[in-house]
Amino acid sequence: MTTLEELLRDAHRVVAFTGAGVSTESGIPDFRSPGGLWSRYDPTRFTFSRYVASPETRAEAWDMRRAFFAHPVHPNAAHRALARLEAAGRSAGVITQNIDGLHQAAGSRKVVEIHGTAREVICIGSAPKHGVPDGCGWTAPHTWAFDRLDAGDPDPRCPACGGLVKSSTVLFEQVLPQDAIAEAYALAEQADVLVAVGSSLQVYPAAELPLVAFRAGARLAIVNDESTPLDDLATVVVHGKAGPVLDAAASTVLGG
Ligand code: APR
Repeated sequence: MTTLEELLRDAHRVVAFTGAGVSTESGIPDFRSPGGLWSRYDPTRFTFSRYVASPETRAEAWDMRRAFFAHPVHPNAAHRALARLEAAGRSAGVITQNIDGLHQAAGSRKVVEIHGTAREVICIGSAPKHGVPDGCGWTAPHTWAFDRLDAGDPDPRCPACGGLVKSSTVLFEQVLPQDAIAEAYALAEQADVLVAVGSSLQVYPAAELPLVAFRAGARLAIVNDESTPLDDLATVVVHGKAGPVLDAAASTVLGG
């Protein structure tokens, strides 16, 4: 039976596809594990249309975002292992569903954030419709919003046009950033191995990407704490913690 090390050793264009499970060892809860975020917040409350329509939803979303950044978080062994594989010329990069920026912090250079980033806020315009932000182009670091909230402004507005301001992440019902999606598809189609790490592989269109790679001839490896719907397609399935599994695999492949 092929091992993860053997798959990675023989690969020339590894692409990683990561989900929230790659960051839990950094102290960031995932969504669907017991105690995950969706056990504390009702995901149906955080749709794009509700965010636009309801100041209460915006306030709850800012509370959630501030809780996300309440404690400093750092990359873990899984993020570092993927950065090492890229630095060694083995990996073409990471497609991530995560918004925490930890792949970049670990040194990964090619990171495609298909669900956006929590480290920025954007203007989405005054009345965007159909899940499509319609802002003036203004953006700022996420700390701009926290400063406004600390100054007593419960519903920060765009300083350039007065539009609504939102974290640069993708909410349910929101259209995914098309440039990031195109980049992710291109990366997946070029992979000879796609390693899906720490994702329940339940959310589409994101979870389509491992299938895009597979249909283009890539072999799949899945590293996850639990089974996923794509396990049957994978050449290698490792049920375990992403940090130690990827650290050991990268060390074996890269020789230390
Ligand atoms: N090592 C390996 N696997 C882990 C670890 C770990 N340390 N911690 C958690 N996992 C696994 C869980 O068992 C679970 O299967 O990671 C998976 C995380 O799944 P989800 O919580 O569903 O997160 P994700 O797949 O990233 O969700 C996709 O859903 O709500 C949306 O936008 C949100 O980007 C997110 C998307």
